[in-house]
Amino acid sequence: MKQLLLLFATMLFSSSSKVMAEVPANAGKTLVVYYSYTGNCREIVTTLTSQIEADVLEIQPAEKGLRYEANGYALGTELLNAINDNPNDADSYPAIDPVTTSLSQYQNVIIVTPLWWSQMAAIMQTYLFQSASQMAGKHVGLIVSSHSSSISGVVRDAKRLLPDVTWMGEALWINASNHSRRASLIENWLKTQDFAIEQTTMDKMYITIDGQTQNVTLENNTAAKALVEKLQQAPVTVTLNSSGGFEIWGALGFSLPTSDQQITAQPGDVILYNGSNICLFYGSNPWSYTRLGKIDGLSESELRSFLKAGESNISVTLSLQSDATGINTLSSSRIKDEELYSLSGQRIAKPSHGIYIKNNKKVKL
Ligand SMILES: Cc1cc2nc3c(=O)[nH]c(=O)nc-3n(C[C@H](O)[C@H](O)[C@H](O)COP(=O)(O)O)c2cc1C
Repeated sequence: MKQLLLLFATMLFSSSSKVMAEVPANAGKTLVVYYSYTGNCREIVTTLTSQIEADVLEIQPAEKGLRYEANGYALGTELLNAINDNPNDADSYPAIDPVTTSLSQYQNVIIVTPLWWSQMAAIMQTYLFQSASQMAGKHVGLIVSSHSSSISGVVRDAKRLLPDVTWMGEALWINASNHSRRASLIENWLKTQDFAIEQTTMDKMYITIDGQTQNVTLENNTAAKALVEKLQQAPVTVTLNSSGGFEIWGALGFSLPTSDQQITAQPGDVILYNGSNICLFYGSNPWSYTRLGKIDGLSESELRSFLKAGESNISVTLSLQSDATGINTLSSSRIKDEELYSLSGQRIAKPSHGIYIKNNKKVKL
């Protein structure tokens, strides 16, 4: 009876329009892995990669020229039966060509596979069986192409073969009757998928005084990391006053975790004092401090001028961007509607008060 299902009509494909999908601008790298016997999954991949930036890996069976559909789909059935009988045995899976693409550089993987007898095509199952450990922890999406059978069995296979991944969302089913509309199906589906965001470690912040901005190289400590988290929400402006002939300092307005040590602060040092005060040094002073970072490349006299040594009520802005109000790290066409991004381009799931980007515009919460 199933054979009757498989009197596949020749499909007429319309060419897809090029629409950039709304994937977060700072999503990690994406790999699209596919297998295609009769070309439908290949067309799906062509459409998909016209909408997102991704590398592509095609899985090929080691034995070429096989006809899986011949003799009432005898070979296709045989390959799947072998897997079903012994799914944990590597020998149950049909051999594939060696894969040289390393998964380590990808945070997101989208699998595009045909359905065979309501299961995942055997060739793709081999690849997933072999790469399960390298896939662990990645965000994985699934697109299944069938003639008409529904895809729950393929989803089940994917979950069995990749037990340690984070599924991006529901799988997308493309079949003979909607294949020609795949461009819009894929575009809408991408909006529902949760792509992993690239985590970059911030080791720089910027200090702006009176329109001049200088780089600060941050320490690798919990105080500096907590400051970065705060600045990811919005730049912070503080009012500092000269003191002791060696620094300008004042209240941050919030506390950071301390790891105080007896040190001699040097010109250029950015120091946390008593957990909630920031000190910018143009001279030196021995005290118990937590160092947050160092202003890069300024001489003592340049520091005195930049920090307005000797003056009071100096307005100082700390930020993660050289232009404290700019939005230059976000590519506006690729931001999901309704989602909030920090000024440094990271998606914020639980926003507190601050300035964010939503629908390409700055919003204040
Ligand atoms: C061995 C084999 C078994 C198949 N079994 C089914 C099936 O049970 N139900 C169905 O709707 N399509 C079935 N198909 C059709 C494919 O799922 C469908 O044509 C798909 O789009 C093929 O993708 P491809 O062109 O990338 O290989 C089968 C195809 C083959 C080769």
